[in-house]
Amino acid sequence: MKYSTVDEWQGRYFGEAYLEIYARLMYERKKVLREVDFIQNALHLKKGSRILDLACGFGKHLVFFLKKGLCAFGLDIMHPYLRYAMGKMPVTFRKKPPLVIGTMTRLPFQEETFEAIVSLFNSFGYRPMDAPDPDMAILREVARVLRTGGQFLVEVPNKQPVIKMVRTTPQTIQCGRDFLIHEFWDYDTQWKILFNRTFFNIRGGITEAGYCLRLFTLRELTALFQNAGLGVQRIFGDYDGAEYDRAISPMMLVIGEKPGRQRVKALSHGKRQY
Ligand SMILES: C[S@@+](CC[C@H](N)C(=O)[O-])C[C@H]1O[C@@H](n2cnc3c(N)ncnc32)[C@H](O)[C@@H]1O
Repeated sequence: MKYSTVDEWQGRYFGEAYLEIYARLMYERKKVLREVDFIQNALHLKKGSRILDLACGFGKHLVFFLKKGLCAFGLDIMHPYLRYAMGKMPVTFRKKPPLVIGTMTRLPFQEETFEAIVSLFNSFGYRPMDAPDPDMAILREVARVLRTGGQFLVEVPNKQPVIKMVRTTPQTIQCGRDFLIHEFWDYDTQWKILFNRTFFNIRGGITEAGYCLRLFTLRELTALFQNAGLGVQRIFGDYDGAEYDRAISPMMLVIGEKPGRQRVKALSHGKRQY
């Protein structure tokens, strides 16, 4: 299948500088393992469970899913990231790596393929420059390729603390021995979009990039899930399994389920309050 073209912003933001910093200079093995353990427990994944890491990036979670014996696949739009992921895989997978290049809005898989799908580290909610919002298309594809009873876990930033951060600290800096990330933040209240402008500085070489990300309330995300035929099951506020608190949680970890036909009807009429 032909994969979709990379938007200019994607190519710029998810380029070499991002890869160098997040995959090499800032990579924290322990943190990733903790996240993978949490996901495995929360979704009750066993050896052989079929899971899709949607927008897997350079494969930081995918590699551990495979090491844990899950039947894991990764999909991403950035070819260089998949190439990097392949290099990190256990050797047995390198001949035929479970990696797929493509877009989240058109998944190249059959109906009912996966028992679980995950979208991690803010991969959901991006706004392309000149195209319609992709959220519903992504969720419909997730619902299509999930098995009945299968689960979808999405990690998105928690809106309230992010907006507070933008207001109090519209510029942030993170640095390490060989790099500095200087970010400028803004939030559009009407469109509910977070604007980011980033300067990646690696040993003096500077790359300028940025992105636009829709920030969701739990109610909005729940409504999107329901429109796609997914029921929201559980919500956590971090990878330690803390209860979600909209004022202080660093993130929203929402777990949805693809119910049987009967329940889809009930979901679309139900009024669940958050
Ligand atoms: C913030 S990174 C997160 C990557 C990974 N999940 C992680 O935890 O490191 C977002 C990823 O989304 C990918 N991406 C953005 N738009 C996409 C699309 N339409 N289809 C597939 N992947 C996309 C980017 O290439 C990037 O690897």
